[in-house]
Amino acid sequence: MNHHIPSKLLRIAAVFFMAMIAITACEYETIEIDELDPDEVLSFSGDIIPIFEKSCTSCHRPGSTSPDLTADNAYNSIVPNLIDLENPENSTIYNTPNPSSGGHAFQKYTQAEAAQVLQWIKQGAENN
Ligand code: HEC
Repeated sequence: MNHHIPSKLLRIAAVFFMAMIAITACEYETIEIDELDPDEVLSFSGDIIPIFEKSCTSCHRPGSTSPDLTADNAYNSIVPNLIDLENPENSTIYNTPNPSSGGHAFQKYTQAEAAQVLQWIKQGAENN
C-alpha cells in the first residue's frame, strides 16, 4: 500500500478546510457590519468621511457638484442644511443616495453605509 497518496490528500483536505474557515470568517464579518450596534458611537471623521471618499467625492468635490463632500468641507456642507435632527430619516444626506430611494441614480450608499449615516445623524450629527 502506498502511504504517500493518503497523506497528500489529507494535506489538500486541510488546506481546503482552512480556506473554508477563512471564507466563513469573512462572511461573518460582513454580517457584523450590517447589524450595526446602536450603542456604538460613530465618528464623522472615522466612519462617515471614508464612505464619502470611497463613493462620492469623484463628483462631490470643490468646484463640482454640490454638496462638497471632501474631508475638509463635508461637515459644513451638510450640517445643518442636509440634516434633519428631528426626523433623521428625512435628512437629505441620508435619503438622497439611499439604496431604497428612487432618485440619485449616480451612486448610492450600500445598506451598511446608509445605516451608519443614519446612526451618526441620530447621535446628533456631530463633528467628531
Ligand atoms: C457620478 C457623480 C455622483 C456621484 C458619484 C455621487 N453623486 Fe450625489 N449628486 C450628483 C449630482 C449630479 C447631483 C445633483 C442632481 C440630483 O440631485 O439628481 C447630486 C445630488 C446629491 C445630493 C442632493 C443635494 C441637495 O442639495 O439636494 C446629495 C445629498 C448627494 N448627491 C449625496 C451623494 C453621496 C452621499 C454620494 C456618495 C454615496 C454621492 N452623492 C455620489 C452626482 C453624484
